[in-house]
Amino acid sequence: MKRKSFIASLLLLPIFKIFGKTNVLGSKECQTQRDAEGPFYKGGAPLKSVIETEGEPLTISGTIFQSSDCATGVSNATIDIWHCDSNGEYDNEGFKCRGVVRSDSNGKYSFKTIFPPHYGSRPRHIHIKVRAQGFQELTSQIYFKGDPHLQNDFARNAEPSRVLSLSKIQGENHGNFDVYL
Ligand SMILES: [Fe+2]
Repeated sequence: MKRKSFIASLLLLPIFKIFGKTNVLGSKECQTQRDAEGPFYKGGAPLKSVIETEGEPLTISGTIFQSSDCATGVSNATIDIWHCDSNGEYDNEGFKCRGVVRSDSNGKYSFKTIFPPHYGSRPRHIHIKVRAQGFQELTSQIYFKGDPHLQNDFARNAEPSRVLSLSKIQGENHGNFDVYL
């Protein structure tokens, strides 16, 4: 590196530092990580809080938050949900294992479905698209702790908050998943 450009890069250092700090303290610290959409998304799924019943019951609930402060709930957001059925297959004709839920005035949401099995080398997962006015659409996937297939897949790079620990409530699986837009 020439002396002149070396000095120039030294002068730029504090600027990068300032921008770096802004990013850390700014809006993206708690933003939910994106994940692949995959080949089976289909728009137009109906609004429903029970997505699927044929299989091992699973309830997922949580809150959709603004990542600008990591705390304010986002009301009236939609979560478009799709996953495979109990045979590991996607319904590309109709809307089995597909549905949309909406967050309430505090950003809270909940839906019932089944614990989707793994298929191929993919671990158990649920696809989501979260949309809310004024926010960038978020496409991601939810995984489950203890799934041995997590290590065979790009899912192994999922942030811990997207790998759900399930608890049993009255014998049924429950998971909490908060989303930060
Ligand atoms: Fe999938």
